[in-house]
Order: sequence, then C-alpha cells, then structure tokens
Amino acid sequence: MHTIPNSVVVGIGKGGSCKTTLATQLSGIWASEGKRILLADLDMQASATKVAGLDPLQHGDGRHLMDAVLYGDELRTVQARDNLDVVVAGRHTKGLSNHLVTANGAAESFALPFEKLMTSGRFDRIVFDLPPSGSSRLADMAMQTGKYLLVPTSSGVDNIEGLRVLAAELEELESDILLLGVVMMKISAAAHRKRAETRSEVSEILAGVADPFQTVIRDAGAAYDDSRKAGLFLHEYAQWAATISVTNQIQGKIKIPANLNDLAREFYELADEVDDRIATAERLLEGVQ
Ligand SMILES: Nc1ncnc2c1ncn2[C@@H]1O[C@H](COP(=O)(O)OP(=O)(O)OP(=O)(O)O)[C@@H](O)[C@H]1O
Ligand SMILES: [Mg+2]
Repeated sequence: MHTIPNSVVVGIGKGGSCKTTLATQLSGIWASEGKRILLADLDMQASATKVAGLDPLQHGDGRHLMDAVLYGDELRTVQARDNLDVVVAGRHTKGLSNHLVTANGAAESFALPFEKLMTSGRFDRIVFDLPPSGSSRLADMAMQTGKYLLVPTSSGVDNIEGLRVLAAELEELESDILLLGVVMMKISAAAHRKRAETRSEVSEILAGVADPFQTVIRDAGAAYDDSRKAGLFLHEYAQWAATISVTNQIQGKIKIPANLNDLAREFYELADEVDDRIATAERLLEGVQ
C-alpha cells in the first residue's frame, strides 16, 4: 500500500467532533511558523475550505481533486495564506467519493496526485480534513494511505465509545496509519475533574498505542465563533485583538472574549506537541528502515 509522505490525517469521529477545527487551526499555525502546508479538504461540506477563507464555488467546487484522481491531471491547489495552500472541496467531492466505491485500485489513484506533489518539494506537510466517519469513501482512502493520524475527541459517553471502535475501524481498512494521539477538545477549563476523568478514559482505551496529548483545548465556543465571523484563524484573530485599544474595549465598541488568548495559546502548544510527536515517529521509523 502507498503511503503519502508527511501526511497528517485528522479524522475518525462523528459530525461536530472538531475534526475541521483541529485540521484548520493547526494548518494555520504551522504555516505562520514557516512550514509549507497543504490543507486537503475531503469533505463535500467544504468546511475547511471555508475556514481558510476560500469560496468553493470560485475554486472548482471540488473539481480539482476529481480531475487529478480520475483523469491524472496535476492536482491544483489554491493559495489561502503565505505557506498555506488548499485542495478545495465541494459538490464534486461527493461525486468522486461515490466513484471510488467501485473503482479498482482506488487507494492508489487517490494517493498518487498527493505523492507527486510531495515529490515536487512544494510542501512540507499535507493535512487532510476528513468528513464524518463512515460517510465517505474518500475518508477510507485517506486512512489507508495517510502516514499519521490525529483524532479529536470531547468528553461524554458517545465520544469515548467512538474511540473504542477506532482500532476495529483501522483493522477493517487494513490501515497502517500511525496514531499520533488523541486531542481532547471542547472541555471546560474549570472542570478539573472532568478533564482528569476524560484523560484517564482516553489513556485506558489507547493503552500502549499512543498517549492523549498533554494540551487540552478548552470549551470556548464564543471565541471560536468570533474568529470565524472575522474570517481569521484563531491565532490571527488573537493577534488582531491584541491591537484593539483598551479604551475601545471598555467602551464596548469591540467585545473580545476573555478566554480568546488562552484558547489561541492552547492551539500553539498543541501544534508544538504534534510536531514533537511527528519528529519522534520519523526518528523511530528511520531506525526501523
Ligand atoms: N474550543 C471550542 N469550544 C466550543 N466549541 C467549539 C470550539 N472549537 C470549535 N467549536 C465548535 O464545534 C463545532 C464543530 O466543529 P467542526 O466543524 O470542527 O467539527 P467536525 O468534526 O469537522 O464536523 P463535521 O463532521 O461535520 O465535519 C463547531 O460548531 C464549532 O463552532
Ligand atoms: Mg468537518
């Protein structure tokens, strides 16, 4: 089976488990730090495309990936920021996914355009944003050909149960993807007991495979939504907010959520942690070869 070099798949999980949030915010931070990132949106809802500030309708509506996989065209990417390009999703993403259900050698055809891009040296890392589990053949293809897997989870029985099926899902797909870890998201900063409980549950489920990341992303829906309304990544929005004078804030002209900086800081810390785990994995894999 082919493996797409330097690829991080963000996936596994039902709708709303923060896959897109994780994939986009990490991509934005890594790009701002100078890594050349390709954010590949595999969800016909095109959420990642939109978070990156692109309108799917103006950029092929998912046609670029379809043309590359089905017709061998060079995979077109659209620049969203310095160091950040996007494979835009949209209406055609669904058509492509449906087509791959019956196609021979589908995983190879899916992986090839990405492998070519990585061989060209244009990018340092690909981040795949997956649709909800079980909803798309493209998600299966990414799980089969991606190198690293990042899984978001929040607390609650459903989410934890979702993790339990992770191993079974990977086995069924005959996937060799390497689980970097589970990211606990949307957990209240004040709920210490809930944090500890979730961490020990996740650790127990993942025993011997990967530890949950140290960094937990707090529940801060308003701060996140404000950054989206501003059309910015969280770290960009926090930087912008820092330029707003206190007078303006006190007069209530511009309201900045109090937990914005903490939330932005957590994503920076997480981005570093993921980098460290990738570096460790690369060293181990080199040792094996
Ligand atoms: N730190 C946070 N605290 C609270 N809510 C958040 C936070 N970050 C993101 N959200 C909210 O969580 C929701 C789910 O986000 P997201 O789109 O990332 O999920 P998803 O797993 O990609 O969903 P889908 O399966 O539909 O693609 C969004 O409504 C978003 O506003
Ligand atoms: Mg999503």
